[in-house]
Amino acid sequence: MAFSTARTAFRFTCFSLTLLPLSPLYAASPAPVQGDNGMVVTAQHLATDVGVDVLKHGGNAVDAAVAVGYALAVVYPTAGNIGGGGFMTLRLKDGTTDFIDFREKAPLAATKNMYLDDKGNVVPRASLDGYLAVGVPGTVKGLELAREKYGTKDREDLLAPAIQLAKDGFTLNQGDASILAGGAARLVKDPEAKKIFLKADGAPYGAGEVLKQPDLAKVLESISAKGPDAFYKGMPAEAIAKASEAGKGILSVEDFHTYAARELKPVECDYHGYHIISSPPPSSGGVIICEILNILEAYPLREQGYGAASTVSEMVEAMRYAYVDRNSALGDPDFIQNPLSKMLSKDYADEIRAKITPGEAGKSADLKPFGGKESTETTHYSIIDKDGNAVSVTYTLNGSFGAGVVAPGTGILLNNEMDDFTSKPGVANLYGLVQGEANAIAPKKAPLSSMSPTIVTKDGKPFMVIGSPGGSRIITITLEAILNVVDFGMNISEAVNAPRIHHQWQPDKVYYEPCALSPDTIAKLKDMGYTLDGGVGGPVWGQAAGILVGGKSLADIVDGKGHGYYGAIDSRAVAGSAKGY
Ligand code: DON
Repeated sequence: MAFSTARTAFRFTCFSLTLLPLSPLYAASPAPVQGDNGMVVTAQHLATDVGVDVLKHGGNAVDAAVAVGYALAVVYPTAGNIGGGGFMTLRLKDGTTDFIDFREKAPLAATKNMYLDDKGNVVPRASLDGYLAVGVPGTVKGLELAREKYGTKDREDLLAPAIQLAKDGFTLNQGDASILAGGAARLVKDPEAKKIFLKADGAPYGAGEVLKQPDLAKVLESISAKGPDAFYKGMPAEAIAKASEAGKGILSVEDFHTYAARELKPVECDYHGYHIISSPPPSSGGVIICEILNILEAYPLREQGYGAASTVSEMVEAMRYAYVDRNSALGDPDFIQNPLSKMLSKDYADEIRAKITPGEAGKSADLKPFGGKESTETTHYSIIDKDGNAVSVTYTLNGSFGAGVVAPGTGILLNNEMDDFTSKPGVANLYGLVQGEANAIAPKKAPLSSMSPTIVTKDGKPFMVIGSPGGSRIITITLEAILNVVDFGMNISEAVNAPRIHHQWQPDKVYYEPCALSPDTIAKLKDMGYTLDGGVGGPVWGQAAGILVGGKSLADIVDGKGHGYYGAIDSRAVAGSAKGY
């Protein structure tokens, strides 16, 4: 879904580019939303309202993030969840940084070759559909850990809006309805999911109709009253384990009893005086964003400009080298040694740059592993409060509506995160990622992620909160939003809306959105030896949610023209909104 929605709207956006008289506007975009006291940007407008309400009633950004996390589980079932997992990057007003990892983990009965047949071939869709695809969910533990450590509000206060939205229902707008319609073919296959998300005749709900989720409301009420044990040691764990057994899965109640969220040290790096705080393994996101930024720092991107063939070539080469490292070297830190100090060092970036010939396409096949299709759903939200506490959250069911299954009586859509593991070295997953042994399946291991909830600071103060869904492209979407602000002078709305490019080592192609590359640039890149894939009529990807502090663009911040916070939701997010107060 995040791959192709809003294509029409977006095409209109890039056609109108030609009408713009002056730089630095590179993309026609809605004006950023301004707020003096706080800003919430999410992919679903009612969840945004929930977050703003918490801030208005004295909650801090973490309180708002917890309430939004539960609200999205109700109003954004394609990705919002309590049956999945994710990451929260925090940077508090006193400069403290933290990272809460509530990523799903492989069940205790998982084995390295569980998705292979007896000939050693990957069984198509075994890691994507049904109970065998489900990792042990982490969201409830993660949100509670964040609330207990950094929140100021009671759990009951933060769950109340989600409970109300599930119990009383909410009226679908056009965007909400189109997302549900997009999942209908998948949801109809599971009797419980069908009962909840489709009408009695199997048709999807339309705009103006009300979606109620009474079973989910009851589960949320029990979590509100009793905390995470209500989920991990109560009815949901038992019902999911039972349905899993009946559905040829391997989840057990023991998996739920032993799940724990963890706090990790965020990955941090510097780029042109900006300080990046982002996701560490088991995400590849922060490491790869930093590796790419380190390589790019020595190139004159600002002078060359957005979309110039030289800029694209340098970005693609940096992405190529960083993604081969991603796919071969990284994995769950409880299981493997991640070579972070090397991958994050400026010396290593220098080494890589020395191998790049700007203006000449490298060859992915020539790159050695370290030391040796897109779509679907996830969701990102960005929040900042009046004190400057910033929270960046990306969480997911992996594919759109996850594994497409709901255990009877729970109302909880379950993830298909097991597909993020390496089912077999050398065989691509849902996102075309060709990964290695470092990300092999093992009991209680978290699959390698690309989710990159990121906070950027400047001179010790929050500057930008950013992230996106988009599978393997999350990393380049987040990276490009930062470059668009820092190097290309875009305001926050332009930065999240501007057409994107992507390269991930394999397949050895430059993917580009409609209008990302001009005909002249395309011709130059082809001359340089690049294989291109995209353009008008092709897909768009990602749904970035961004906040800038102190101005709508870097120029305004420097000139002191802005005040407070400026937020923007990607126009590719059809149901989303940015709201300040
Ligand atoms: O963790 C990851 O990298 C993936 N499970 C994210 C999936 C995703 O972004 C799907 N949405 N577009």
